[in-house]
Amino acid sequence: MKFLDLVKARQSVRGYLSKEVEREKIERCLEAAQLAPSASNSQPWSFIVVDDPKLKEAVAKETFSQLISFNRFSLQAPVLIILISERSGFLNKVAEAIKDKQFSLIDIGIAAEHFCLQAVEEGLGTCMLGWFNEKGVKKLLNIPQQRRVELIITMGYPVSTEIRPKKRKPIDQIRSYNSHRLPK
Ligand SMILES: Cc1cc2nc3c(=O)[nH]c(=O)nc-3n(C[C@H](O)[C@H](O)[C@H](O)COP(=O)(O)O)c2cc1C
Repeated sequence: MKFLDLVKARQSVRGYLSKEVEREKIERCLEAAQLAPSASNSQPWSFIVVDDPKLKEAVAKETFSQLISFNRFSLQAPVLIILISERSGFLNKVAEAIKDKQFSLIDIGIAAEHFCLQAVEEGLGTCMLGWFNEKGVKKLLNIPQQRRVELIITMGYPVSTEIRPKKRKPIDQIRSYNSHRLPK
């Protein structure tokens, strides 16, 4: 697929078939994530693949509650990918402090998108989840207290392959050349 077509085909998938996802496909998505760039090449990430059905159900239940239930669809996804921010090197920590920037979050976002784009290539759907009970997820997966779970990606074969129109700000509202000049 041409790159821009791949980007257009990626969308948040919130309905999954109960079809098993092949591990070779998951591995290729992880390879795409592994190859993502990162500040000082610090690669401050790790990934837990949760495909054991019972464990997966327990983790999925940490992404919603009775009150806030928009992530309930995660129960349908046969695979969950847990993105953890790992310790970044000393140099990176200094750079983050001086520049008042959290590079590791940027790095993990890029890795997550690499993962999701490769998933499209594999005929799979994904959705990034930023809303979940971090404490509960950590407990279920033996993640050390000092680590952060930054993102969860649901993954599986989509119920529908129809590509929805994208809801995005018009390019004129987000782009200017040579100076910060956006329409009011
Ligand atoms: C950091 C991040 C967190 C997100 N968290 C959630 C979430 O908790 N639940 C959900 O259904 N979608 C979540 N999304 C998906 C966005 O809602 C979605 O990407 C956006 O609406 C654009 O739609 P599209 O992905 O279909 O193009 C998240 C996306 C990102 C990048």
